[in-house]
Amino acid sequence: MKIAVVGTGYVGLVTGTCFAETGNHVTCIDIDEKKVEKLKNKVIPIYEPGLDVLFDRNIKQGRLDFTTNLKEGIKGAKIIFLALPTPPGEDGSADLSYILKVADDLGPILEDYTVIVDKSTVPVGTADKVTAAIAANAKVEFSVVSNPEFLREGVAVEDFMKPDRVVIGTSSKKAQKIMEELYAPLVRQGNPVITMDEKSAELTKYAANSFLATKITFMNEIANMCELVGADVDMVRKGVGTDSRIGKRFLFAGIGYGGSCFPKDVQALAKSAKEVNYDFEILNAVMSKNETQKTKLIDRIKDHFGDIKGKTFSVWGLAFKPYTDDIREAPALVNIKALLDAGAKVKTYDPEAMENVKGQLGDSIEFCEDEYAAAEGADALLIMTEWPVFRTPEFDKIKTLLKENVIFDGRNLYNTETMAELGFTYYSIGRAA
Ligand code: UGA
Repeated sequence: MKIAVVGTGYVGLVTGTCFAETGNHVTCIDIDEKKVEKLKNKVIPIYEPGLDVLFDRNIKQGRLDFTTNLKEGIKGAKIIFLALPTPPGEDGSADLSYILKVADDLGPILEDYTVIVDKSTVPVGTADKVTAAIAANAKVEFSVVSNPEFLREGVAVEDFMKPDRVVIGTSSKKAQKIMEELYAPLVRQGNPVITMDEKSAELTKYAANSFLATKITFMNEIANMCELVGADVDMVRKGVGTDSRIGKRFLFAGIGYGGSCFPKDVQALAKSAKEVNYDFEILNAVMSKNETQKTKLIDRIKDHFGDIKGKTFSVWGLAFKPYTDDIREAPALVNIKALLDAGAKVKTYDPEAMENVKGQLGDSIEFCEDEYAAAEGADALLIMTEWPVFRTPEFDKIKTLLKENVIFDGRNLYNTETMAELGFTYYSIGRAA
């Protein structure tokens, strides 16, 4: 099948590459000429494990190409994916201008029946708006489908190729059939393709992300309770997670969720609710609790050291989670800012995200070549991202590098008893110090 993907961001690139891998011919379209030039030269602008192999293979085999020209790019395409940004506007609602602009442009250039797919996370009612924008100038029949993505950064290729489920929002039988045919190779093991109306599909995406953000926040609240009553959040997590109604995943307490999705989507759903005069109270609580959770360790640090002016802190991890260089809404940055504001110095190491942070913080902090260099001469160690490389470090070496054997762990990487035996003062989340 010939497919076009408009927008070569993270979602568009993964979608395009993976559909090329299942034998389709995919043209990715972007208005950013520099980006398209890079892609044509086989340079992937994002860090996503496993994407490079598929990307190279499909370009080589002629199934994946790139253009800045919308008309050329969609020629012969049976399906056009819209994978465009929907950044939060001033008031928290999703800005649809990129999507609606492309919808306007598509109307007059469609040559045959085409399925246009909203892949971006968009508020309820967007499929109707896209339909109206295309219909204003379209000369041929078309269907607009909502097909939200559930990809996690860092494991996006795996999530794409083996989805838990595929959600297709359409009221057109013709579009449904084409979409089912496209996704058939990915659901051979029997994972469901769930077809529903457009609005339900749009809401499903927000509901999924907001539910997961709420689940994490709930466990963060339990962790805070654990600290006050002397319980251990890891034990509580195991105790509740084994109830199949609750499930084991996304129950890890920490220093709050970040990234480009949860914060934006929780905010957008709360805003959408407001627009229909519904106060989605629980989401307001989730947002404010997540903010305070992010700097939880700063309070501990100040309790431990008193004044931290002039002290040096080693920060391990900058990305909002492992296996990505993404620092959007990353708790690490909020903590670094709080440390700098209090007059402290920061030395840091992250396997992938340092370049991105350099762009924001310049030389206000020191970037080191590995985790040990970052620990050298620091008053304490802070763990902000659970990169596997931080899980089993050489603790004896760390003891020789730090001025004081104290670790503030925002991701609960280590066993509290082991840390005590090793002679560390160890603060973590929801467990006895
Ligand atoms: C999330 C969803 O998991 C995807 O299904 C969705 O497609 C994507 O958003 C999106 O809307 O595009 P992502 O933001 O890549 O994916 O990252 P997650 O792995 O979901 O992690 C989000 C945040 O929650 C991270 O900051 C992570 O550290 C935090 N988290 C996750 C916890 O604090 N505890 C947990 O138990 C799990």
